[in-house]
Amino acid sequence: MKVAVFGLGYVGCVMAACLAHDGHQVLGVDINPTKVDLLNAGQSPILESGLQELVSMGVQSGKLGATVDHQSVVQQSDISVICVGTPSRDNGSLRVEDVEHVCEQIGTDLRNTPAYHVVVVRSTVLPGTVEGRLIPILELASGRKAGVDFGVCMNPEFLREGSAIRDYTQPGLFVIGELDQRSGDVLQAIYQSIPLSPIRTTLRTAEMVKYTCNAFHAMKVVFGNEIGMIAKANGVDGQEVMQIICQDHHLNISPTYLRPGFAFGGSCLPKDLRAILYRAKELDIDVPMLGSILQSNHGHVQTAIRMVEKTGKHKVGVLGLSFKPGTDDVRESPTITLIETLIGRGYQVRIFDQTIQLARLIGANKAFLEKGIPHITTLMCGSIDELVDQSDVLVVSNHSPEFRDVPGKVRPGQILIDLVGIAKDGQLPEGQYQGICW
Ligand SMILES: NC(=O)c1ccc[n+]([C@@H]2O[C@H](COP(=O)([O-])OP(=O)(O)OC[C@H]3O[C@@H](n4cnc5c(N)ncnc54)[C@H](O)[C@@H]3O)[C@@H](O)[C@H]2O)c1
Repeated sequence: MKVAVFGLGYVGCVMAACLAHDGHQVLGVDINPTKVDLLNAGQSPILESGLQELVSMGVQSGKLGATVDHQSVVQQSDISVICVGTPSRDNGSLRVEDVEHVCEQIGTDLRNTPAYHVVVVRSTVLPGTVEGRLIPILELASGRKAGVDFGVCMNPEFLREGSAIRDYTQPGLFVIGELDQRSGDVLQAIYQSIPLSPIRTTLRTAEMVKYTCNAFHAMKVVFGNEIGMIAKANGVDGQEVMQIICQDHHLNISPTYLRPGFAFGGSCLPKDLRAILYRAKELDIDVPMLGSILQSNHGHVQTAIRMVEKTGKHKVGVLGLSFKPGTDDVRESPTITLIETLIGRGYQVRIFDQTIQLARLIGANKAFLEKGIPHITTLMCGSIDELVDQSDVLVVSNHSPEFRDVPGKVRPGQILIDLVGIAKDGQLPEGQYQGICW
């Protein structure tokens, strides 16, 4: 295919050279004449392992070239890929002016391009940018309609400098956000050499995935370092600790605990986090990320409370008391905090939890429940139907399988607040269904 690559920085250069190596006809566009001259002379404008060879081969074979003049580049291509920079402003916000400028140029050129063309955003931009800012610019400049006359994709780049070519050719994640299927099909066709099927999704999801990856990576580095500092101060080798941690692919390096939902609770996580934080404090070790976890978790419970308050309804039915299904351990269950707060604010709360047999609760578990919700016996319902009957708002707080039928029981005017994602399947209309993180 014929591909125009706008921006010959780390991302654009690697992509242009790899596409040319795969046999595509690639023309790079950059406002920097030095980069363009270098590339046309077969020299890589950036230092990246293996790139010099690819650029040199690409230019020699006539598959790779560059220009400062964007005009007519679009007309000669099937796809335009935008790889220009999106740096931070002083206040941390993202500068997307270069991407917008390129969209204006591509849009202007699209006016005179009768053939179907796909515009691909490879630069990192915040969710909603492509739909809210870039497509309108493209449509205005071209006088044509996205999804009809031209296609649009968001194709985040996950390469790391230093291993960029390997990351490009063998990515761990390959995501195509598409305006419509046709756009995604055209883009996917240029990636035939990549040994991984793309995950095809919406433009916004693709934008968000990129930020999630980088936030996750940054968080992992800081987590490892904070743990390492506490370990060292306790006479333990932090690197050995983290190596051991990473060998658990069931709970540690796994999707477990990575699903947006309700706050954590239970008898261990809050207690053990408090204890290790106290030890860090005793040893004068600053661990701001670990120190912020409980606060963030508490804030999440407050979010759930606000969701109930915003409904304007006062009869609340809570499904699930324990912090997860299949246990009667209610110690530090965030649902107890939710219920306690709602009762304190005058809400009429009813509760259903099949696993909590009040008569059988003993010790710390029983004490926690009775302290949090003193008249709990009078609030418990014997069945889901009874609870649904007596409530105007339903709150699903854990994943118990018997809650899956709840959406089917919701009557008109009733609202279901889903804290775990059990009823995401679209059974309920938007006004009646609210998910906490979706
Ligand atoms: N560098 C990385 O490792 C990396 C990895 C993944 C994603 N990204 C993202 O990819 C995007 C590009 O990053 P980069 O590091 O390659 O940027 P960069 O700063 O190295 O290169 C950007 C290039 O765009 C050119 N440019 C600016 N305006 C232009 C215009 N109007 N027309 C043509 N060219 C223009 C610049 O001259 C420059 O050569 C950013 O959004 C970045 O966040 C970067």
